[in-house]
Amino acid sequence: MAATAAVPRAAALLLPAAMLLLCLAGASSAANVTYDNRALVIDGVRRVLVSGSIHYPRSTPDMWPGLIQKAKDGGLDVIETYVFWDIHEPVRGQYDFEGRKDLAGFVKAVADAGLYVHLRIGPYVCAEWNYGGFPLWLHFIPGIKFRTDNEPFKAEMQRFTAKVVDTMKGAGLYASQGGPIILSQIENEYGNIDSAYGAPGKAYMRWAAGMAVSLDTGVPWVMCQQSDAPDPIINTCNGFYCDQFTPNSASKPKLWTENWSGWFLSFGGAVPYRPVQDLAFAVARFYQRGGTFQNYYMYHGGTNLDRSSGGPFIATSYDYDAPIDEYGLVRQPKWGHLRDVHKAIKLCEPALIATDPSYISLGQNAEAHIYKAGSVCAAFLANIDAQSDKTVTFKGNTYKLPAWSVSILPDCKNVVLNTAQINSQATSPEMRYLGSNTETLDDPSITAELALSGWSYAIEPVGITKDNALTKPGLMEQINTTADASDFLWYSASVTVKGDEPYLNSSQSNLLINSLGHVLQVYINGKIAGSASGSASSSLISFQKPITLVPGRNKIDLLSATVGLSNYGAFFDLVGAGITGPIKLSGPNGALDLSSADWTYQIGLRGEDLHLYDPSEVSPEWVSANAYPINQPLIWYKTKFTAPAGDDPVAIDFTGMGKGEAWVNGQSIGRYWPTNLAPQSGCVNSCNYRGAYSSSKCLKKCGQPSQTLYHVPRSFLQPGSNDLVLFEQFGGDPSKISFVMRQTGSVCVHVSEAHPAQIDSWISPQQKVQRPGPALHLECPKAGQVISSIKFASFGTPSGTCGSYSHGECSSSQALAVVQKACIGVSNCSVPVSSNYFGDPCSGVTKSLVVEAACS
Ligand code: GAL
Repeated sequence: MAATAAVPRAAALLLPAAMLLLCLAGASSAANVTYDNRALVIDGVRRVLVSGSIHYPRSTPDMWPGLIQKAKDGGLDVIETYVFWDIHEPVRGQYDFEGRKDLAGFVKAVADAGLYVHLRIGPYVCAEWNYGGFPLWLHFIPGIKFRTDNEPFKAEMQRFTAKVVDTMKGAGLYASQGGPIILSQIENEYGNIDSAYGAPGKAYMRWAAGMAVSLDTGVPWVMCQQSDAPDPIINTCNGFYCDQFTPNSASKPKLWTENWSGWFLSFGGAVPYRPVQDLAFAVARFYQRGGTFQNYYMYHGGTNLDRSSGGPFIATSYDYDAPIDEYGLVRQPKWGHLRDVHKAIKLCEPALIATDPSYISLGQNAEAHIYKAGSVCAAFLANIDAQSDKTVTFKGNTYKLPAWSVSILPDCKNVVLNTAQINSQATSPEMRYLGSNTETLDDPSITAELALSGWSYAIEPVGITKDNALTKPGLMEQINTTADASDFLWYSASVTVKGDEPYLNSSQSNLLINSLGHVLQVYINGKIAGSASGSASSSLISFQKPITLVPGRNKIDLLSATVGLSNYGAFFDLVGAGITGPIKLSGPNGALDLSSADWTYQIGLRGEDLHLYDPSEVSPEWVSANAYPINQPLIWYKTKFTAPAGDDPVAIDFTGMGKGEAWVNGQSIGRYWPTNLAPQSGCVNSCNYRGAYSSSKCLKKCGQPSQTLYHVPRSFLQPGSNDLVLFEQFGGDPSKISFVMRQTGSVCVHVSEAHPAQIDSWISPQQKVQRPGPALHLECPKAGQVISSIKFASFGTPSGTCGSYSHGECSSSQALAVVQKACIGVSNCSVPVSSNYFGDPCSGVTKSLVVEAACS
């Protein structure tokens, strides 16, 4: 498909907003999607689009419509998802598109909401997903080399890509067929690493481009981070900022496929977050400098259920500090402020699609870009200084620009929004503890009686217990041995001791084990002798510890566990795991190298073979007794609980447990590891949004567990009794586990007199009437709630943050009464931020209104 000539600009200009809406809503009639130098062109009209990533298997089908609706309410036009090959083809040739894997169902749910889809097929996806989304069987195809000019790989990649395209076509889901898919991606950021593959890498990239185009989807293809993507493929940008990006041809539009809304969490890492002022700045800068499509990666991150997280050491939560949190609730003020940014950009759309921007310097680090064509005019004024606020003059008017901010002027005159001035409310999520079996429930109406039936347990034996174990001289790499059928691989050997061995110092010897990772447990004669883990930055383990050996035969059983397979980098598929040695016993007079001894291997746990996680299978292994072992490794635990009432999201707090995996009614909620702590340092109390962001700039929870709370999707729960099964690897006390519900606490807003008015008060781009002043808007987060109390209100110079506000030196005595009168008893209210309303407590000072309210 060739890039079509530009839409006649006049035609685009004349299309009223109502018709644009019709184009969107009318997703059921075939649409012609092309592009030109400015934008994607849908049915002859250039479009300014806002997109967000929601990965369908990171939530459940019952959550999809709600997430998509929140995305639409947040001002998104497009939902982007990767396609995850490993879940759709777990066994070569056996496809699965059911339940959480119902790709077509997800795409249809997006269409039902009237939004478009960007389908990033990959099929390599990275995505912090196990093995980058490749199924493990692919690795075992004879002669295969991934992501290069290799016939077996290309044949498999083409077969799966065609399968996805055919499935979408079969369901009529491409825009060319009347469906929502307007864009598709092949490969993923290959340009970041292709030099490692040399000339065959380039040949592969060109092949992938041609193969994709030959599938004839009727919509454009993109390659992200591929500066040499061949025509007609559009090369796109990924990163925290993409305003400086230019596509590789003057006939391609400037598209941003991954604007990282936060960052991912690792077990052993601190929790990353990205301030919304900086994210909004990045978005506005992109549209300011000619961009017309940007995608939040992620808009809803969700949860790495099962063993789907990549690695090594990617955590189970994939919250990502996204505008919709892991549990599906809007994160405020992030979601609301970005919604305002999207509205501001959409007000500029007629100008943005009409012309290229022209640039005017407004002084050092201050830039204006103006889109002016005929009677339309929109301007973006940016202060890219990370320290100083500025006052600039533009077209004869003066504008105050806070540091690191963009003001958006849909009529080249009035500021409708500044990216650093948040009018949207903040809400603080609260985790409501429902008690555990050692605590009294805090609310008798909720019965999360975890220990109603007590805990049963089953002991996972140390070492080899399966009949199909394999004995071989030497040490085997783990992933090639297990094919990832399980996280676990036992390595078992024995040493016979007479007593005078040179590696012995009386009965002690130093045991040294080198492993590629990720987690190692050492058992000597059936007893735990130590454990060690790698980390996200290096999975390597070097275990060294004195052990006691007995005369005669000594058993050495080593349990090696993976925590998510690598998903990124050149040749990531060949990064190994497990104990590849050397393994040595050493003492004062010599050493014994066990690396080439006879080792017996067992893939997986006995409990996995017995399906202990599946409550529908009765197994004699389970012991029900009043007392159960605690703080001992390798124990399965099982209990029954009643699902918390209502529809608030549910999580389990695994504090008290070590490391393992958990299943609710037989469905895995992922790996838990609350004992893996973030480093002590590297966090900031309050992150300065000004200045370039990076993934390590804003971190929280240093010195604390990376993840204590684990989402239990509502659809995994049933009325009445539910089963919870845990496999605990290190040792823990299940009586310490608690159930929690995610709820929204107080609603807080802080609006200054210096802010622009609420965006919805904008009347028309050619507005002649006086703009209203700023207003504070409060809204209860849940339908049916009303504002029940005003916990704090201050007009003047208040300070503090939500939950701990205090009055400043200047403060109106009427603030509380005025806000109470306007807001109590209603679901939402608006209060002008003005001395005309509150009286002036200190003239000549810029004042703010701060309110903290409770809803019930
Ligand atoms: C990108 C990649 C995504 C995701 C992201 C980090 O490089 O394309 O798939 O891994 O990084 O979250």
